[in-house]
Amino acid sequence: QLEDEKRMIEAHELLSKFYHHLLLNTKEGQDALEYLLARGFTTESIRKFKIGWSLPNWDFTVKFLEKRGYPLELMEEAGLLVRRERDQSFLDRFRGRIMFPIQNPKGDTVAFSGRSLQKGDEPKYLNSPETKIFNKSKILYHYHGARASIRRKQQAILFEGFADVISANEAEVENGIATMGTSLTEQQIGLIKRLTDTVVICYDGDSAGIEAAFRAGNLLTNHGMNIRIAAIPEQLDPDDYISTYGSEKFQQDVIGAALTFMAFKLRYYKLNKNLNDEGDRLAYIEEVLKEIVGLSSAVEKDFYLRNLADEFDLSLDALQQQMGQTGAPRS
Ligand code: GTP
Ligand code: MN
Ligand code: MN
Ligand code: MN
Ligand code: MN
Repeated sequence: QLEDEKRMIEAHELLSKFYHHLLLNTKEGQDALEYLLARGFTTESIRKFKIGWSLPNWDFTVKFLEKRGYPLELMEEAGLLVRRERDQSFLDRFRGRIMFPIQNPKGDTVAFSGRSLQKGDEPKYLNSPETKIFNKSKILYHYHGARASIRRKQQAILFEGFADVISANEAEVENGIATMGTSLTEQQIGLIKRLTDTVVICYDGDSAGIEAAFRAGNLLTNHGMNIRIAAIPEQLDPDDYISTYGSEKFQQDVIGAALTFMAFKLRYYKLNKNLNDEGDRLAYIEEVLKEIVGLSSAVEKDFYLRNLADEFDLSLDALQQQMGQTGAPRS
């Protein structure tokens, strides 16, 4: 059993080296390399993150593994191969994709995510399936590589995408990690907690990203973490932002200007509301009051209550009275 897992990991390590070589040093990898460079990735970070290219052939990986004596059934179990229904023959799972190797917290390569090169070639990212060595809810992209930086800075930056982690890295933000295209899990929070209790959430600026940031923020807060939210403007994602505005602006205006969770929520509750509409305005005030009730610090309570009173020209008395009726905070 353990022997099997060792072999699966070995195969991943070996393949990731090979895919990386194909991308950097061969004609077959040239288009993919050009794509990555055109996107703004540097050769240095392609090396650092061991990004690779899988050939568009049906059985290149099959042969590669077979030649080196890896049992193909085991390699199917490892998620590297799939089986053709018709004749049960083995085929490569990843074909013609940019390969991002994925490490477990110990630094072993246990999975891949392969990005399609062409727009419209779905799925955009093809991940390894869940296997004995890969459980995506227990893995954060670049966790192993970012560990030292997270410890040193006592802060982790949580992104949505691999591309964001890599671009941020180029912008000297080296404490970035990402979920595997799913929402944040308790196990992932456990991993972060081993290193720090402070997380800056830096998700995409589209509405899906904002919703996800709200959920991740609540989950992290419920687990006793300190959080901030770095908001990306104009529906960009961190990677787009860095290529558009540069590293310095990313460091200063995005990460450096990250909002407290409360400030983020005050903005969040305004989305999709028309504050000139009486009903919307009252709904907003109610939502904010609920948040204020949930604050543990009396000073903060007072601060946000006064802000709310000022903003809507309300009396503090009325707000306090209302707050008394608002009841217990959501857990
Ligand atoms: P780029 O388009 O390469 O910049 O990727 P992105 O990181 O901006 O992707 P996006 O914001 O669309 O998605 C964020 C993350 O979700 C990705 O890094 C993946 O982990 C995951 N994801 C995106 N598309 C897919 C998909 O088609 N399938 C799966 N399984 N995951 C995906
Ligand atoms: Mn997104
Ligand atoms: Mn994105
Ligand atoms: Mn995108
Ligand atoms: Mn992107």
